[in-house]
Amino acid sequence: EKGGYDHFMLKEIYEQPNAISDTYRGRMLPDQGIIKMAGVDDNIDRIANAKRILIVACGTSWHAGLVAEYIFEDLARIPVEVEYASEFRYRNPIITENDVIIAISQSGETADTMAAIKLAKEKGAFAFGVCNVVGSSISRETHAGAYTHAGPEIGVASTKAFTTQITVLTLMALKLAKHKGTISNSDFRYHLQELERIPGKVKESLESDNHIKVISDIYKDARNCLYLGRGYNFPVALEGALKLKEISYIHAEGYPAAEMKHGPIALIDEQMPVIVIATRKGHYEKVVSNIQEIKSRKGKIIAVVTEGDTEVRELADHVIEVPETIESLTPLLTTIPLQLLSYHIAVMLGKNVDQPRNLAKSVTVE
Ligand code: F6R
Repeated sequence: EKGGYDHFMLKEIYEQPNAISDTYRGRMLPDQGIIKMAGVDDNIDRIANAKRILIVACGTSWHAGLVAEYIFEDLARIPVEVEYASEFRYRNPIITENDVIIAISQSGETADTMAAIKLAKEKGAFAFGVCNVVGSSISRETHAGAYTHAGPEIGVASTKAFTTQITVLTLMALKLAKHKGTISNSDFRYHLQELERIPGKVKESLESDNHIKVISDIYKDARNCLYLGRGYNFPVALEGALKLKEISYIHAEGYPAAEMKHGPIALIDEQMPVIVIATRKGHYEKVVSNIQEIKSRKGKIIAVVTEGDTEVRELADHVIEVPETIESLTPLLTTIPLQLLSYHIAVMLGKNVDQPRNLAKSVTVE
């Protein structure tokens, strides 16, 4: 049932090229410049004219929501707020009929997310679900939705659900952008063509597995770890840190790289591995200077870089390459090495990777 893999988590990490193409298959026609998503098409004016989009989710799904915030605002020019579903209800949120609320949930059963959707519906908002499990409670409670079609995710640590959530939300943002005229036809097609190249590039990213295993062995005894990223890759840093925490029980934090100087830099010494996402697109030079700051405090740098990078390679202790793509799609690639890194560290530490202590696959209590 694990298809020859030692753990479901590893199997699911390796399933991502197919899971991502299953997510967009039948929904996009790059040559014709078309995206078809019934749940969006049927409600296009309601969604495109939203005064604001509210995204509610928990954990990894919340991180996918943060990536979506960048994509929606960047491409479709709709203001987005991303909320922890668990906090949303408890601050008397302002919700109107002009709002669209998007709930993101792999299981579709997360109690806090479900409660947030119910509240928003009561206030007249239009509710859209991005779920993986077909027929799940959240998919039934929402007015419309789009499934991720990632296939069953058994490992408690979410992997392919995250990348397929980003894929669905990217399609949605592109579709809205086209409808609103905030993206040119050529840029729209270019995005679709690049998205179609992602599964192959995820496959290439997975080829760093052995190299990542070697790095994992060097840092497996670290007590703390810092993950840094900027722009589209800031949520990826958060997600990388969550993956490490939940399966290896090593304390890890994700930060926007530029925030480091406002506090976390105090933590850095020669014991501290710092994982920096430093791909060519998006604030590259700024991230390079963040790396220099870490270096001068003797932190150990593991950098995720674009194939062929030379500048970061000179500064970092280790580099892990991912293929080049457009900025908005980089999270789909930079996430892969971070998943593998936590997986290998957890295995080396003898932890129960698929069923980490204290965690459940779906959290049905508030
Ligand atoms: C992380 C993880 C959790 C879930 C969270 C939301 O690896 O598994 O953080 O992402 O409990 O679950 P869903 O997406 O099912 O609502």
